[in-house]
Amino acid sequence: MGLISQQSIESVINANDIVEVVSSYVRLEKRSSLNLFGLCPFHEEKTPSFSVSPGKQIFYCFGCQKGGNVIKFIQEIEHVSYPEAIRRLADKAGITIEESGDDSWKEKYERDNLVYEALLEAARFFYSRLEDAEGTEARNYLEQRGISKSLYRKYGLGYAPKQGQAMYDWLAKKGIADQVMLEGGLILKSRGEGYYDFFRHRVMFPIMDTAGRVLAFGGRSIRDDGPKYINSPETVVYSKGKHLFGLPQAVKSARKEWFLVEGYFDVIALAKVGMDNVVAPLGTALTDYQARAIGRHADTVNLLMDNDRAGRDASLRARTILENKGIATRFILLKGAKDPDEYFSSFGCERLTAALSETLDATEYQLALLKLDVDSVLGMPSADYRNGALDLLAAEPDIVKRELYSGRLAKELQINRRAIREEVERRHNVMKAGPRGAVSQQRDLRRGNVRRDNRRKLRKYNEDEIFILMMLADNTQLIHIKPSVPKAKLGGYALSDDTGAFLSSEQATAPLSASDFGNGFLREVAALSIIEAAKGSLTLAALHANIDNIWETYENKLSDDERDDSAPDVPELVHSMVQQQFNAYDASELSKQSLGRVYLQRLIHLRLSQWERQATIINRKAGELEMAGSDKEAAEHYANAVTLTTAAQVFRMITQGEQQT
Ligand code: UTP
Ligand code: MN
Repeated sequence: MGLISQQSIESVINANDIVEVVSSYVRLEKRSSLNLFGLCPFHEEKTPSFSVSPGKQIFYCFGCQKGGNVIKFIQEIEHVSYPEAIRRLADKAGITIEESGDDSWKEKYERDNLVYEALLEAARFFYSRLEDAEGTEARNYLEQRGISKSLYRKYGLGYAPKQGQAMYDWLAKKGIADQVMLEGGLILKSRGEGYYDFFRHRVMFPIMDTAGRVLAFGGRSIRDDGPKYINSPETVVYSKGKHLFGLPQAVKSARKEWFLVEGYFDVIALAKVGMDNVVAPLGTALTDYQARAIGRHADTVNLLMDNDRAGRDASLRARTILENKGIATRFILLKGAKDPDEYFSSFGCERLTAALSETLDATEYQLALLKLDVDSVLGMPSADYRNGALDLLAAEPDIVKRELYSGRLAKELQINRRAIREEVERRHNVMKAGPRGAVSQQRDLRRGNVRRDNRRKLRKYNEDEIFILMMLADNTQLIHIKPSVPKAKLGGYALSDDTGAFLSSEQATAPLSASDFGNGFLREVAALSIIEAAKGSLTLAALHANIDNIWETYENKLSDDERDDSAPDVPELVHSMVQQQFNAYDASELSKQSLGRVYLQRLIHLRLSQWERQATIINRKAGELEMAGSDKEAAEHYANAVTLTTAAQVFRMITQGEQQT
């Protein structure tokens, strides 16, 4: 079929209401005024995370992240091409679609196709040169780098011969016009008459899109003469920063967990150990565009950049870019080699395979780097190492991880565990305190040049709060769990009457309540969700619906300033945080028993942080009262703040002490 005009596409979209179309495949429930929910038809699930927005006319699954407009839905569910999906929807709505009358568009389309054809022909040419007599030196080179025939076939490697016009002659004989070769970046104009090949005497790496269309090439020098790599210039079909080497192979692997490496040979090195879920960003820092391409197929990326300063910085930056797209990241640190390719050559298949499964989170990774620095910079004072490590730990937002790594550090430094833990928590609180405190500065550094409002927005939503709501939605029985401090345990502490009474009060020992949440949007979501959980009717879908519903009224109450402050996609952000955490939690397959324990731990953490927040506010108020001369009232406030703070400390010591032994 021909080209469909943009106008026709628009009228097809307008004539097909997405709710109606989706409803004939998925049972949808109206859970909120903004979205309808149902079981996702694109992945296995027990609770609905598939949403349809009548307002935006799009669908989106919070679970598998598939989403798009009505055409995309038909494409996905019927496994048909884009034009075919449009045709079906047009038939359904009784619309006749017209061919585009816009010739410039059609022209470009046809022109691009000619360039694609030329690039494919060039790839074939390079490939056949590698196989014949001319390619001996290149074949030897690949062999010497441990690359077998089946491997270079898989990635379509080739050889560009030495002579100036070998490729040009071949392509010309196939009837490809000079102009098209020029546009594809395959040839250059000679100073005199005629043309010469852009790539000469190099091992050729074709860069392809997901569909396997050749877009460009990278050429590696064989004798280390001239520049190490020459890459295709930007062309009508190739722009720097938009593509990835290894993409079609990674997509084909159908794995959800990918590796990101720096170079062509690193992709190949991982392929040697059976990993074809590997991509490289082609000599640039990872771009948003590339991250989006990865996110369409993978949910986790293991960062495996070169083991040098630049590679380390690049991997921390890549982390920010990927996580902002909702893609989870982990780090792999290869010791004793510059990159995966070198690692394979030095240590072999088994060691590389083992190393690939040793993933670190960002804090572990930075701790490991710090340790490497200490080991290499002889005479780095151990106090500096300890100090650096404590700061890294304090910057870790997850309390469970802070605990865990504090334990490891204590062991390593042979320092009392409690002392380390307390110091880490102290620093953590200091960092958290100021809006420009060290934690946020650290984050700023890690986040690089993320938009400022984006950062502010992210800080507003507390992961613990979202995590606990998500757990509750998954298992409403948890709402009955209460924290408590056995009276006998309290005996060991010299507590004031007030603190003792507070610790056994209803407020301290109640099940989860809205007052455990910070003031604001999430507290309102929590209030409603807790009621539903008590009735047993809270589900993940209901939680998502509550987020939408509450936001709608909440947004109206915001002042203009606050509204500017909170980006328009707050509900989307919270939705995806819920779902992201749910995915991780679901994958961890906690037993019923540990489920309760984890929940209780989070509840206690939430509650104690809330007490401490309140104490800060009361203290401030006390200060104001003192200034105003109301000494008696001020003293009462101070006392209340002390009660809250001590209660939180004692509670923490008792409950965490128990976990330690
Ligand atoms: P590296 O210098 O790390 O190369 O550049 P490499 O992949 O390890 O190559 P070998 O192992 O030395 O043969 C990483 C990537 O940066 C791009 C290429 O994409 C390369 O794979 N690059 C590097 C260039 O585009 N041009 C260059 O001159 C160098
Ligand atoms: Mn290398």
